[in-house]
Amino acid sequence: MQKLEVFGGKKLKGQINISGSKNASLPILAATILSKKKIYLSNLPRVKDIETMINLLKSIGSNIKLTKNKKSLLIQNDKKLKLYAPYKLVKTMRAGILVLGPMLARFNRAIVSLPGGCSIGTRPIDIHLNCLSKLGVKYKILDGYVYASAKKGLIGARIKFPKVSVGATENLIIAATMAKGISVFSNCAIEPEIKDLVKFLNKIGAKIKWIGKRTVKIYGVREFKENKFNIIFDRIEAGTYMIAAAITNGNILINGADHKIIKTEIELLKKIGVKIIIYKNKIRVIGSENIKNTKILTAPYPGFPTDLQAQIMVLLSKANGLSIINEKIFENRFMHCGELNRMGAKIKTKGNKAYIQGNTKFKSAELMATDLRASVCLVLAALAAKGKSKINRIYHLDRGYEQIEKKLKKVGAKINRIS
Ligand code: UD1
Repeated sequence: MQKLEVFGGKKLKGQINISGSKNASLPILAATILSKKKIYLSNLPRVKDIETMINLLKSIGSNIKLTKNKKSLLIQNDKKLKLYAPYKLVKTMRAGILVLGPMLARFNRAIVSLPGGCSIGTRPIDIHLNCLSKLGVKYKILDGYVYASAKKGLIGARIKFPKVSVGATENLIIAATMAKGISVFSNCAIEPEIKDLVKFLNKIGAKIKWIGKRTVKIYGVREFKENKFNIIFDRIEAGTYMIAAAITNGNILINGADHKIIKTEIELLKKIGVKIIIYKNKIRVIGSENIKNTKILTAPYPGFPTDLQAQIMVLLSKANGLSIINEKIFENRFMHCGELNRMGAKIKTKGNKAYIQGNTKFKSAELMATDLRASVCLVLAALAAKGKSKINRIYHLDRGYEQIEKKLKKVGAKINRIS
């Protein structure tokens, strides 16, 4: 099994190019099932989850031609598709459930394995299923699979999501693009990746309009058109490297990130003492020895993202006093705290709150990654620790970070992948 070896204690300096967003690419790839026409996608990140989604699409019969660098592809779903997403492909990636909406929309039926993904909470799909049933879907769960059908086709409906859910909003928006009549969904998640999905759907012929901050109106269509789409940048990757610059007291220019989309993260970093200079599509981040303690609440966009919670915790471990993180999205997302404590951090958790003592001088250690964002927080801590750290189980990391060791090497980190 591959590991990362990190020799920490170096200030990182230089430029990092941000890849396309994993969490925008996944629903967009799933949504290609809607159309018979050619679709050309660019700026896909080269990460394991995207490979898994492409394999899932190939397994149902999609015709996919990847470019040599695997960052763009041409996809066409004009042949007969197998409306079945098997456990072996969905188990590692929760976003596998996103094929349910488009399969039902176009073919009125689907069999999809209950999803896997990070072990950061129970992560049910009840909202996806309950809301799909309001569009006319009947389903049963048998042996770990969702068997769903809508004999008369999907019918537009007015739905208020009981809770803000990224995945459920995506599945329902994709499904409603082909439903008979009009749908109005309120209390939608409005993450930039969802805005990107809607932009993509409209580009291929859907009729979707945002009519309120969290309300979307969808006029069902039956036909789509050929088009091209360039995926938005990965705001979580951008945030992670911004924290890497801050934690190593370095100076990094983050290329390809729109500051307007990550306003909350930028404001927070500035507030705790990190220097940030904004340019068009670039952000310079300059670290500081003096990080101030603070309180953070993770929340749906535009709140502070849960996907950056583990990374910011590493930086707050170096702050000059007690910080508190209140994790409001997932109930089991503090598994990294134990490993950070083994590196010298002083973090206690109680329920969904983490109390971070601060003034930590990280020590190198051999570490175990537990989920995608937890793995990257260990890389950040290892970059800040003097000496050699080893991070095991980096397959979690490869699910969502494109060539992380290459990008970090480019800014001066001593980091190697070993088998
Ligand atoms: C997506 C992101 C993930 C991010 C999360 C929150 C992708 C591929 N993944 O995950 O990186 O951490 O948003 O920003 O985009 N819930 C239910 N029932 C449901 C659905 C969700 O109870 O049917 C709960 C979840 O357990 C969680 C909360 O709602 O507590 C939010 O989850 P959701 O926004 O749906 O996250 P994902 O779409 O799974």
